[in-house]
Formats: sequence, C-alpha cells, structure tokens
Amino acid sequence: METNQKKAFEYAKENNPSFIKSLSDFLRIKTISSDSNYSSDIREGAKWLVNILEGLGAENIKILETQKHPVVFAELLKAGNEKPTILIYGHYDVQPADPLELWHCDPFEPTIKDDLLFARGASDMKGQLMIVLSAIKAIVEIGKLPVNFKFLIEGGEEIGSPGIQSFLEEHKSLFKCDFVLNLDAGMISKDKPTIVYGLRGIAAFEIHVTGPTQDLHSGLFGGVVFNPIHALCELVSGMKDEDGIILLPGFYDDVVQLNSQEREVLSKLGMDEDYYKEQTGVDKLFGEKGYTPVEQVGIRPTLDINGIWGGYSGEGLKTVIPSKSSVKLSMRLVPDQSPEKVKSQLEAYLADNAPKEVSWKLISLGGDPASITDLNFYATRCFADSIEEIWGKPPVFQRGGGSIPIVLHIQKALGLESVLSGFSLPEDNIHSPNERLDLDVFRKGIITVINYVYRIADSCGKNND
Ligand code: BES
Ligand code: MN
Repeated sequence: METNQKKAFEYAKENNPSFIKSLSDFLRIKTISSDSNYSSDIREGAKWLVNILEGLGAENIKILETQKHPVVFAELLKAGNEKPTILIYGHYDVQPADPLELWHCDPFEPTIKDDLLFARGASDMKGQLMIVLSAIKAIVEIGKLPVNFKFLIEGGEEIGSPGIQSFLEEHKSLFKCDFVLNLDAGMISKDKPTIVYGLRGIAAFEIHVTGPTQDLHSGLFGGVVFNPIHALCELVSGMKDEDGIILLPGFYDDVVQLNSQEREVLSKLGMDEDYYKEQTGVDKLFGEKGYTPVEQVGIRPTLDINGIWGGYSGEGLKTVIPSKSSVKLSMRLVPDQSPEKVKSQLEAYLADNAPKEVSWKLISLGGDPASITDLNFYATRCFADSIEEIWGKPPVFQRGGGSIPIVLHIQKALGLESVLSGFSLPEDNIHSPNERLDLDVFRKGIITVINYVYRIADSCGKNND
C-alpha cells in the first residue's frame, strides 16, 4: 500500500476522537431549514463550516446567498492542474427534531451510547459530511494533496433546495470540476455497502379546506354544514385504493416500467418483506399490488400524507365544527413523471371530487423529477473498487427511494455526474426521533474515502479506462 495512504489511515485512526468531537460541535447547531425561527442557527452552521474548511487549508471560501439559505463554497486546489478535481457535496441543514417527547436525549446535545452517536442530523447528513471532511483532513495533514477538491455545502436540502438550479447556473464557472462526490444516499445495511444509481423525485403540497367562516357550536349548527375535516378526509381517502394504487387520473401515464433484468437485480438485494417489517416495526406491510417491497420503495411512485390538522385536539372535550382543515402531502416520483403534471392531476382531482359545500386551496411546496446516474461512470466504478477493498466485498447497486434534488440540477445546469453512496443506515432513524450514527461505520467510512481519494488520483483516472 502506498505509504501516504497508510499514514493517512493511521492519522484518521489516531484522531478519530477529535473528529467525533468536531462532529458533536456541528450537531449542537440547530440548523433546521424548514423553520424560520432557526435562520440565525443556519447562518451559524454555515460559519462553522467556513472555520472547518479553513482548517483544511481551503481557499476562496465563500458563503453564497441563494433564494433561501446560503451555500458554503471552498476550493482546495493544491494538487495541480493535471490532477482531477472532485466537487464534495453536502448539506448542513437538518429536519425538525419533533416530536421531542419521543427522544431519549436532547436532539441537539449529542450523546454516545453503545458506539452510537445520537443527535438530529447525526446520520443525515452531518455525520456523513464529516466522514468526507475528516478523510480530507487526514490526507492534508500527512502530505501532498493527491487530487483537488471543491466544496458545495447547502443549507436547504431538507426543504427541497429552493432555487438551486438558478443558483448553479449563476455560479457555473465556480463549480467547474470533474465530478461530484455525494455521500448523502446511505447504505441498505451494515454489511451491504451501497452505490445508489437513481433517486426518486418529489412533489409536495398543502391542501386547505374551508367550510363555515368561523368555528361553530356543533349543537347549534351540527347537521346543516359540511364539516371541512370530513371533506378533507374524504378527499384524502379517495386518492388511493385498497391495493395501494394512486387514483389521481393520469398519475401513472409517464411512469417508466422496469424491465425484467432490473427487477431481477433488485430482487437480489435482500430487502424482502422481513427486512422492511424489522425496519418499520409493523406486522404487515402495505404497498402497491403487483410489486415487491424493494420495487415499491425504489422504482414506483407513492403518495403520502405527512401531516393533517384542524379543529380541536387539546385536552378534554370541545363540541366544535371547525372552520378549516389542512393536510400536507408529498409524492415520490419516478422517471419520467413531472412535478408540474402531477400538480395539475391533483388539481383536477380536487376540482372533480371536493364537495361543493366547502372551498379548497392547493399550495405547492416544491418539487423535482427523479434522477438516474450512470453506473458505468469511471468515478463510480472507482468508488466501488474502494468499497471492495475496505469492506472486503463489492457494493450492491440500488435505486434509492429518497430524494436529493440537487443531483438532477447538477446534471442539468453543470453537466456533471455524481457518485452517489453513503454511510447512513436504515436503522439510523433519519427524520425520526432518536436519530443516530453508527460510529463503527463512521470510522470505516473515513477509511473508505481516504482509499478512494488516492485511488482516483492514481489508478482510475478518466484516461486509464
Ligand atoms: N439523505 C436524504 C435522502 C436519502 C435518504 C437518499 C436515504 C437515499 C437514501 C436527504 O437528506 C433527504 O432526506 N432528502 C429529502 C428531500 C426532500 C425534502 C425534497 C427527502 O428525501 O425527503
Ligand atoms: Mn434528509
């Protein structure tokens, strides 16, 4: 093994406690992107990253404004022109921590138990981002940089990266590089390192239904008005049938069908019914008829209610007919569905089915189509080689069910391909209470990235294919 790589491995092992300390500092910052009460914490998160990037010796560090939250940019170009430049992608924002009462510890006071680090963002994705930053730190500290790096770390991924396409177009020259390394896509289990070659898109909405002009006494008026919560529940329940098929007219028209070869590959991932029962804690699964669980999650579209409210839900009894009711819903999209088309399908459904006694309003919360990346891309194959060397087995290849909107925008605006992998586990409770990071995987992830950086510099450059 190349001596520099060996030295970097040793540095990483010796300094692991300081990497975890640094990650813990990062996790204490409440970078919740969806809630404007936290916008100063978002700024603090961006500044914290500037400091870390300075510590790597990065230059041209900038906090760039976007439509919503800032992007942190930096360059580390000391390897010279003839070496490839990798754009490291990350997001420093996190999901809200609620419901807080279900956490066993403070979500913003990182706590280690049984080699697991608990905190909001520990896995998605401050931990995964710190894997790359720690690997680069080790490489920088022990010798000459083998490749160049740029950094694009955004603060609005968890709210759909608003305005990111025009942001990328505006700063196109800044992001000039060979490819993107995006470790926000996770792995399917601890013994199955994963390369993801497709992500689902998303279309998210709110629907507001209004009945009477104000809340009413249900004794005085119960019986003469259409309760808006009932109206909303009828609308929502009519969106899916008992076979899990989405009933918005035209919803499946553009869905690309899988060929039998791809279905065969997916069936070998080991993500069977028992896997999903164990991960979710349900006794019986429910999904679109005719598809296996791994297909339902990776390659079929879905529609889910994310929250529903209205009326009175406090303690005790209140005999009221609410004036309003609302729902948040999101759909995961697959190739070639378009978020705009799906919005008009939902609009048409509401127009046709909403009871005439209530009024409704549809609000879009953003959306992006699905993305597919090229499995034969040299930098992706090279990542697979590093996984094989460090994990002792080749990675599995998966179509991921989650969404990372920027992947498609990077393809469209910058013409760049992303290597999509990651070190987050399904049992890490991402977006849920008690999110955690497996520190054993964290350490192995750092070693994998170090190996990758030396490998991409030496043996699997574009021209050696
Ligand atoms: N890291 C996830 C996406 C992910 C998770 C990809 C697991 C593959 C496997 C990311 O941070 C995320 O949660 N994205 C949001 C985006 C949405 C708000 C537009 C998502 O998928 O819900
Ligand atoms: Mn997330």
